[in-house]
Amino acid sequence: MKSILISEEEIAKRVKELGKQLAEDYKGKELLVVGILKGCMLFLSDLVRTIDLPLTLDFMVVSSYGATTKSSGVVRIVKDLEREIEGKDVLIVEDIVDTGLTLSYLVENFKARNPKSVKVCSLLDKPDRRKAQVEIQYIGFKIPDEFVVGYGLDYGENYRNLPFVCVLKPEVYEKK
Ligand code: IMP
Ligand code: MG
Repeated sequence: MKSILISEEEIAKRVKELGKQLAEDYKGKELLVVGILKGCMLFLSDLVRTIDLPLTLDFMVVSSYGATTKSSGVVRIVKDLEREIEGKDVLIVEDIVDTGLTLSYLVENFKARNPKSVKVCSLLDKPDRRKAQVEIQYIGFKIPDEFVVGYGLDYGENYRNLPFVCVLKPEVYEKK
């Protein structure tokens, strides 16, 4: 680990703010929160507890990386949603948007299923390497172009359980 980028306290504070904002914006709507596994798991479970509204949950498992730090741009749906989203106000919850390739694919895929609306809430936004234009309505933190792990984010499936977001030492992944 190189350094802690976002502490537990900072995350908790920002998550509360996002939850409050979401509760205002989705009041009276049929909110369906869709988590993109596995990266969203810690963020989503903290976030939904701060959204003071009735809502439902569904999950999708996608895979785009393999055990490297560069996105391939090829998105594979490993597990699809369980229910139809037609007529629902869908909020996609992601861990991080990097190139934007995963999310732009997902947003188009979701829109084709005729939801009432589709918006995106991402814990982290790494705008420097964006390749696909994608709108992110709710962003936890903008971060510089560094590979981060923790609070759900992994490197080769490790580090997801760290309660904070930290920068991995380049030696860890440059050796591979
Ligand atoms: P994108 O398609 O390049 O936007 O990549 C999105 C996915 O890549 C995210 O959902 C993460 O799983 C992964 N990812 C991108 N950057 C990082 C990072 O810094 N740390 C860990 N995972 C990352
Ligand atoms: Mg991932």
